[in-house]
Amino acid sequence: MPNNTNTYIAELKGKTGQEVTLAGWLYNSRASGKIQFLIIRDGTGLCQCIAEYGKVPDEVFDKLKHLGQESSLTVTGVVRAEERSVGGFELAVTGAEIISPAVDYPITPKAHGIDFLLKNRHLHLRSQRQWCIGKVRHTVVDAIRRFFNDNGFTLIDTPILTGIIGEDAGSLFEVDYFGESAHLTQTGQLHLECAAMSFGRVYCFGPTFRAEKSKTRRHLTEFWMVEPEVAFIDLAGLLELAENFVSFVVGQVLEKNESELKTLGANIESLKKIQPPFYRLTYTEAAEILKSKKTQDFLAAQLNEFKSQKQQIEKKIGELENEAKGSVKQWRADKIAAELIELRSELEETGTKIENNPKHAKLAAEFEWGKDLGGSDETIISLMHNKPVFVTCYPKEAKAFYMKADSPRFAGEAGRSNDKVVLNFDMLAPAGFGEIIGGSVREDDYEMLLERINKQGLNAENYDWYLDLRKYGSVPHGGFGLGVERTVAWLTGEKHIRQCIAFPRMMDKIYI
Ligand code: 4AD
Ligand code: MG
Repeated sequence: MPNNTNTYIAELKGKTGQEVTLAGWLYNSRASGKIQFLIIRDGTGLCQCIAEYGKVPDEVFDKLKHLGQESSLTVTGVVRAEERSVGGFELAVTGAEIISPAVDYPITPKAHGIDFLLKNRHLHLRSQRQWCIGKVRHTVVDAIRRFFNDNGFTLIDTPILTGIIGEDAGSLFEVDYFGESAHLTQTGQLHLECAAMSFGRVYCFGPTFRAEKSKTRRHLTEFWMVEPEVAFIDLAGLLELAENFVSFVVGQVLEKNESELKTLGANIESLKKIQPPFYRLTYTEAAEILKSKKTQDFLAAQLNEFKSQKQQIEKKIGELENEAKGSVKQWRADKIAAELIELRSELEETGTKIENNPKHAKLAAEFEWGKDLGGSDETIISLMHNKPVFVTCYPKEAKAFYMKADSPRFAGEAGRSNDKVVLNFDMLAPAGFGEIIGGSVREDDYEMLLERINKQGLNAENYDWYLDLRKYGSVPHGGFGLGVERTVAWLTGEKHIRQCIAFPRMMDKIYI
């Protein structure tokens, strides 16, 4: 049975030649004559264990042979270095003990459709891909805390049940709060602003909720957001903070998760380029880029690329289907079936891209100053850059009530003065991943803020305490929010953010 004399797979290094016991689950196995290759996972890694007939008791050899995927067991054996083996070490098995056998585990090493995997997320969490993403996410969360803790910020836990609207009245989760209406928080920002007037530099980090009616790959209804807020800061200061922060997080992931990134097929070389300074565009410049011929050419080239990708996938599918019609061994038939599932889902995705490309091109060409940037607009700008891009100074009318309008006081930082725009920014991750940060300088003038609250149809009474901050020693201040799942998706190259949280919540379903 497992006990504290067991060794973790991650600790096999330095134990070559020693006999150790691993405790874990059977990830995969195959037999070849008198040798069985068992891949064991124990939460710290994978290890190939080789059981040879005659070197383990006969009844153990026999039990292992019929052991189902995900059975729990301990395996004892001698460690040997083996470069070609997963993890770099192997175990020459001398004994094993089955803890709990598993029969017909539903998720086989073959490919499955995403709906099936989401319904089985409680089990799918054990897969190599989910494990790698979970490890990267852990580092991201750790790096976030480390960065702010080491840079003079104080953690403030802001409430989840709130009475005021922080971002957008259209995406509130209402809660019956003892007969009164409250809702789940969309942002900790407003409470954090109070704390910034006490502690100077603060951050909150917790789950946030948006009843988003969109089913995009970028939206969850429950997601984690870290929000720093700083007293006495301007837009330039916020951009600098954000680029240093994101570069630190990326650096930590590169340092601690290289092998996970490799397994996930992430673009490590492009992540190594994530160093300050990031690109800076004003919204007005971004709008000009969207409408430019360069963008139309870029999208046309992309369309051609998608079309040729589609042809290649179709060709490969045809070849595999033909091969499957002939007489193939069972293992090959399984492999073909798995590849076909992957290829068909790729084909569908490429088809959607081909369909969307002209729509996105039209949206970009007809982009009008004054609109918020849409998802496809962000994707285009983000695809055209190899490092994150700050887009600053959006039209006031398109943005939240608390954002400070540009004024001569900030003209230097914003590049010009124009009270039609606010001193805000979004950070777009490169390679098409889009917005990962939204932030701004906050309106610190009592009258101006009250006017924005009224203009947006919010109930000013509810904002009494928020307005008080502008009455008693108001100072220029600002902050931003970074979404954890979107960041993890970017770093791991995962297309859909639902894969970047253990138990995703989306508009159409709460799976588990
Ligand atoms: O741009 P947002 O809405 O900004 C705020 O909430 C500000 N109050 C933050 C601040 O200034 N303190 O959201 C910030 C980030 C986005 O850039 C995105 O990464 C993430 O939160 N986000 C979502 N992530 C997943 N699903 C959703 N539905 C998200 N909505 C926002
Ligand atoms: Mg935003």
